[in-house]
Amino acid sequence: MGTKRFLSRFFTTASIMLLTASTLGAGPASALTTSDIAVKSQAEMILPERDAMHKLLTNVYDSTSYVNAGNTNYSLNGVSASSIKLLIERFESEGEFANSVAARALKTHMTALELYEKQANADKIVKHMNGFLVLLEQQHSKQLLSGTAYQALKDSTDEMVGQWDTTFSSDRAMTHLHNLSIGIGPRVTGTAEERQGVEYIKNEFEKLGYDVSTQEFKLPDLLTGQLQITSNDNQNVRVAIADGSGYTDENGVTGQLYAAGLGTAEDFTADAKGKIALIQRGDFTFWEKVQNATAAGATGVIIYDNVNSSTPILPGLSNKSSIPVVGITKANGEDLLSQMTTGEVEANLVIHADSTRKSQNVIAVKKPKNIENPEIVYVTSHHDSVAGSPGANDNGSGTSTVLEIARAMQNVPVDKEIRFIAFGAEEIGLVGSTYYVSQLSQDEINRSIVNYNLDMVGTNWAPASQLYVNTVDGKKNLVWDTVSAASKKLNIDDGVLNPYQFSRSDHVPFHDAGIDAALFIWMEPGTARMEPYYHTPQDSIENVSPERIQTIGDIITTAVTDLTSTQAKVTEKAS
Ligand code: BES
Ligand code: ZN
Repeated sequence: MGTKRFLSRFFTTASIMLLTASTLGAGPASALTTSDIAVKSQAEMILPERDAMHKLLTNVYDSTSYVNAGNTNYSLNGVSASSIKLLIERFESEGEFANSVAARALKTHMTALELYEKQANADKIVKHMNGFLVLLEQQHSKQLLSGTAYQALKDSTDEMVGQWDTTFSSDRAMTHLHNLSIGIGPRVTGTAEERQGVEYIKNEFEKLGYDVSTQEFKLPDLLTGQLQITSNDNQNVRVAIADGSGYTDENGVTGQLYAAGLGTAEDFTADAKGKIALIQRGDFTFWEKVQNATAAGATGVIIYDNVNSSTPILPGLSNKSSIPVVGITKANGEDLLSQMTTGEVEANLVIHADSTRKSQNVIAVKKPKNIENPEIVYVTSHHDSVAGSPGANDNGSGTSTVLEIARAMQNVPVDKEIRFIAFGAEEIGLVGSTYYVSQLSQDEINRSIVNYNLDMVGTNWAPASQLYVNTVDGKKNLVWDTVSAASKKLNIDDGVLNPYQFSRSDHVPFHDAGIDAALFIWMEPGTARMEPYYHTPQDSIENVSPERIQTIGDIITTAVTDLTSTQAKVTEKAS
């Protein structure tokens, strides 16, 4: 991965033109060095000059490019103590340090860290990396190393801490939330922005070293409709397309309107043939009205409301119609009838179906070592949002939290399989999660024990101070047992978690498949009211609370770690 990753990073910089044939052919350890490009000799340069030069060459000092440079890399992914040590040595040889004492002090830290890596001692690694960082800051403030060397070593340190720090950090989650809700913005189901969200999530999971896949699925047809009165200056009439309506081609159907009263069979004469039937709502079903119109040879149906409303009536058909069917308001229906009293009225009705839309689930898998057919634990969220809303709490919050839990757990040895999943197309009817569960084999379902589904886990709306743990049947299950144990362990107030019955999210298909599942959401104690920003433009990052993200993150990380970690069990037995 060293060469590939180094080169792919490198290609993103402006310094691409500096790559020579020999650089491309070389292994990672001998990839581009500053000496390849220096105009002035290294020794002649003073530190500020080097910094100016290095500004032109972002990413040159990427310690991950050394990972496989003949040194044992004990970390699963990314940076290791030995790669940082090599980076220090290289900076030293290239004159980035003011003296060798400073470089040696930093290297000594890395020698100790190599040992802790061998032991996979996460606590010690994080502690010593923090010590290393303090020393690095001191050296920097005393100008013992160049700004470039400082920055590169600091970035590597942060990355290495990220690999081993098993505590959930709301800061990191908030960075994801920023990237999703502001960097991308609304991620409406089936749009290019939803797809950008998918790429972001996939890339973040991959950086953590997970086995990542995307699962694509078709979305239901997106219907768009238009009714124009061609005999009246192409007057546009607002329509609601009936569920079960037939489609037209892009030209639609054009014909005279035929006033068919309530749409009984007797209301249609031979004259209705080839016309668009205008029918009043009421007395019997929409489907019966449509059947009568179809039998009479009408080419389309417009149903107008029988009560006043500002929005057009949405007719629900119990079957699929062969001709287009729309609903309009009472006022518009009566207006058309009055136009018909003075002469023939002609209309054009178009119902276009976009059947090409797709969405994706992103799945990151962590498998236990040496365990065949392990039990499976799901930590899930949905990544799509509704139109006109940045989808920060709904559900950038859940997705960012899942990404950060995945980071915290990346090096935790487990005896169960964990699947971190971000579902697409939740907002149009749990489509991604329903598809995902439908594709599981019976064996996978049998091995699946629990689903933690995070949806709207960060509102800052003050009254929503309770974390509801919602199951489909209202009964406590393994989700409840593990999170209530975790919250006790974390000394979280007893009243924070609240068992409740609620569906409306991606835990439903898991429950339906017989898997213990629950939805997490902050709501008001007693009333189960939720934030007023839901599905509005105000669902933005300003209305998300890092503290509440920290609480849910701590609870789920602890619950999942205690349920799956081999180490957690060793400690339990020992105490
Ligand atoms: N996050 C919401 C679900 C939700 C709403 C949970 C209110 C708790 C309180 C979710 O994204 C959503 O809006 N779901 C749809 C349901 C779906 C079946 C279309 C909804 O509730 O309308
Ligand atoms: Zn949601």
